[in-house]
Order: sequence, then C-alpha cells, then structure tokens
Amino acid sequence: MTDSAIRLDDITHRHTPGAEPALDGISLRVDPGETIALLGPSGAGKTTLMALIDGRLRNWSGAARVLDEPLSSLRAPSGAARAEIGFIFQEFALIDRATVRQNVLNGRLGRTNAFSAFFGRFSAADTYAADRAMADAGISTLADRRADSLSGGQRQRVAIARCLAQEPRVILADEPVSNLDPARAADILTLITDAARQRGATVIFSSHQPDLARRFAARIIGLRDGRILFDRPAGQVTDDDTDKLYRDAPAPQGDGALRLVV
Ligand SMILES: Nc1ncnc2c1ncn2[C@@H]1O[C@H](COP(=O)(O)OP(=O)(O)OP(=O)(O)O)[C@@H](O)[C@H]1O
Ligand SMILES: [Mg+2]
Repeated sequence: MTDSAIRLDDITHRHTPGAEPALDGISLRVDPGETIALLGPSGAGKTTLMALIDGRLRNWSGAARVLDEPLSSLRAPSGAARAEIGFIFQEFALIDRATVRQNVLNGRLGRTNAFSAFFGRFSAADTYAADRAMADAGISTLADRRADSLSGGQRQRVAIARCLAQEPRVILADEPVSNLDPARAADILTLITDAARQRGATVIFSSHQPDLARRFAARIIGLRDGRILFDRPAGQVTDDDTDKLYRDAPAPQGDGALRLVV
C-alpha cells in the first residue's frame, strides 16, 4: 500500500470561539503500519488531535484523510469508516455487568450484523477475533469473569482486547500507561505495539514519558501549544528536543495521577 494511513493538512481547531487554538496548523502524514508517539505537556493538544483522527472533532479547518476517506468537519464518519479505527480509552469504558468475553465481543459491533449481535449471536469470524484478542492480551482465563470483578490492570487488558477484536487498521491510545508503574507500563506498550504489528495496524499513542516514547515508537511527534515542534524518527529525538517541549510548560491541572481522557 502506498497511500498514507493518515494525512492532515493545516488543521486548526478551537474548542471555544476566540480561545487559543488547541490545534494550530497541524500537517502530517502517517504511513500504514507506523508506530507513533505523541509527546507534549498538558494542554499541548494530544487528546484533541486523537479526537480529530477518530472522527469525533467538529468545526476544524484544513483537510484530513484517514484510511483514504476524507474526514468532515461537520459530521461523524460512516459506521464502516469508524470500524477501521480503534480507540483505547484510559478509563476503559467497560460494561461492568458483562463478562470479559462479552466486553471483548463488543469490539465486533461495528463489523457484524447488528441484528444478530443484539441477540448475542456472533459469527465464527467474530468469535475468532475475540479469542485471538483475549489470548494476545493474556486474559483468556478470565473470559467468563464479570468485568466488575477484575483488577484495574486486568480491566485495562480487557479494554485493549476489545480494541484488538475490532481489527482496526488504526489504533489510537490516549495516555495508555500514565497511571502504571514502569514495568507494567512497558508490558502494556509491548502488548499494544506487538499486537498492532502482527495485524499490520498503525498505532498512535500519547505519553508524557520520553523514554517510553523512544522505546516503543518508531517516530515521535512533539506537540506544544497545538503546534508540531518536531516530527522525527525516535532515534533522532534528543534530550534537548524533549527538554524544549516541557521547558516552562504550565503544570498539569488537578491530580496528574488521576487525569482522564477528555
Ligand atoms: N472540551 C474542551 N473545551 C474547551 N477547551 C478544551 C476542551 N478540551 C480541551 N480543551 C483545551 O484545548 C487544549 C488542548 O487540550 P488537550 O486535551 O488536547 O491537551 P493534551 O495534550 O491532551 O493534554 P493532557 O496531557 O493534559 O491530556 C487545552 O488548552 C485545553 O484546555
Ligand atoms: Mg490528553
């Protein structure tokens, strides 16, 4: 495939009229299968940029294509286009009363017959994708447990498995490891990036940790004040680059350890 997975040209967006832009003239291309880290201080625009790529942002200017479909600033993408993009939410967004398997199968909803799925009848392809995703996420033995009986780390793996079961061509993960200790953070990023590589999916994850960005992404985009400060192969990103990104940046609002996706 030679076309870009994502192509953004001069995207500008303000959350409220008259406010400073959250995205300020962003242009970038992402090749299919690339693994990219978005690095930048609180308020840099990482979540806003991911919401744009996910088709959830309205009223922006510029041009955007995701998987060869033009995004509209006015309306949400079609269901078929949405199924190609998987979002790993930091707060997991699981159905507590459902089992792990049911939660993971929910990842198939955009891909399967809605009528059958409503009655809990999934195809062999759906079941295969869910089983493979649970195995990759290391949660096969938890398949029949209710989601609300799991630990936080297990719930996170269910959320990742649900995203993988969807078989998206683009995986967006907004600060997937911000609340984790270093060993668990590395485990989760290994899981996401390995599973994406096996499936040929493009990954964009945001992070505040330059060392994890360098280790798990092939390319790092440094964002600050809605602008791209640098966009380079991870091996060429220097300490000076990351220092500039965070120098004199305003402190995060509230308790950083509990920060949720907005
Ligand atoms: N719903 C909203 N309404 C108004 N302003 C918003 C909204 N969401 C974000 N913003 C503003 O847009 C800018 C970019 O926010 P964004 O959430 O994209 O930053 P971020 O890089 O994800 O930060 P963090 O690292 O804290 O998650 C910030 O100035 C923020 O205050
Ligand atoms: Mg954010």
